[in-house]
Amino acid sequence: MKQQLLGGLSAAEFLAQYWQKKPLLIRGAWPGFKDPISVDELAGLAMEDGVRARLVQEKGGQRPWQLSHGPFKEKILRSLPKSHWTLLVSQAELWSEACAKLLDAFTFIPHWRADDLMISFAPPQGSVGPHVDSYDVFLLQGQGHRHWQIQKDPDLRWRPGLDLRLLKSFKSEESWVLNPGDMLYLPPGVAHYGVAADACLTYSIGFRAPAKQDLVADLFQLPESLAGLLQSEDLYTDPDLTLQDNPGELSAAAVAKLKAMALAPLQHPTLLPRWLGAYVTKPGDLTAAPGGGRRPTAARMDKLLSGHGALWRSDAQRMVYLAPLGDELFFYVHGEEWVLHSALLPLVQQLCAKRCQPGLELAKSLPRGKRRQDGLTLLSRLVATGACYFGRDLA
Ligand code: SIN
Ligand code: CO
Repeated sequence: MKQQLLGGLSAAEFLAQYWQKKPLLIRGAWPGFKDPISVDELAGLAMEDGVRARLVQEKGGQRPWQLSHGPFKEKILRSLPKSHWTLLVSQAELWSEACAKLLDAFTFIPHWRADDLMISFAPPQGSVGPHVDSYDVFLLQGQGHRHWQIQKDPDLRWRPGLDLRLLKSFKSEESWVLNPGDMLYLPPGVAHYGVAADACLTYSIGFRAPAKQDLVADLFQLPESLAGLLQSEDLYTDPDLTLQDNPGELSAAAVAKLKAMALAPLQHPTLLPRWLGAYVTKPGDLTAAPGGGRRPTAARMDKLLSGHGALWRSDAQRMVYLAPLGDELFFYVHGEEWVLHSALLPLVQQLCAKRCQPGLELAKSLPRGKRRQDGLTLLSRLVATGACYFGRDLA
């Protein structure tokens, strides 16, 4: 069915031709559009606790492009200048049924992709500056007029020292003045710069896409040290989205994509091996925590190694190591990861191979040169944590 909201395209045509692909300006998308909220009501919301409100002051603040967060005192809002600021309220659908109803027009996109409805009010020249969003957005113009400029493939360097991430060298490629009821669809990554031509309200219907890193961290409950290894800013994408019978369905196609993203660490060269190292050395329920002792100094350790004693691995301990990766050697003791220099590999191999190590033999596997100290430190730490102790050599 052709839709006025989509400029005479059917939802299926819009998805196939524009969704996550290219911008679309739709003149008269919503004929006779009536703002579901007044400027005073919006300001009232921005003064309430729990409402996500922000104020961007390009001019008139303590610094250019100052960002402040609500709730705002009435006095602050009343004392704003006549131009160059924007008041934004996110998740407006939570606070106003009339606003929430707006979202019903966008159910050709699955529900789970919907993020929120953000409403902005700006006096003349009000703007949040040239920027890029990582999400799809429909920018529906309410009262007043806004001048939009866009750049499809922007240079992603930011202006330093600002509260906001604004593009350093935005170059307008296309521009329009949007009238009430006009709408601009932007896929992620298209730079945009909207400046109020007169006092205006703009409704941003935004869509979210989960990030690979978040899916993985949630699924595997990874500690931050490992989740951070992914360092991926990859977001879910679905330029091949097709119209669903019911927007509430999490479709098989979406599940397949999300699954591939969430399972990506299985392919990561170190993430899962490192998690496994910690997991397989975790103490069982009945395994007593090691006692530990005083940390021997390196000189004392040297002396112990040259005597007739032996270093024993405590019964409670499981130790494993992974084949070194470059200079890094990952060693696991009692569920903890120790990142060592790969020069310590012979020492670690020897420690892991046998429960009892005659001191003189162990001394031979210490690295030479400046890394020798690291080897002694490792042994001291093992004694201090109770993973190992000095005893008699039973050989
Ligand atoms: C605005 O309403 O001023 C900004 C909306 C956006 O750029 O996402
Ligand atoms: Co934006």
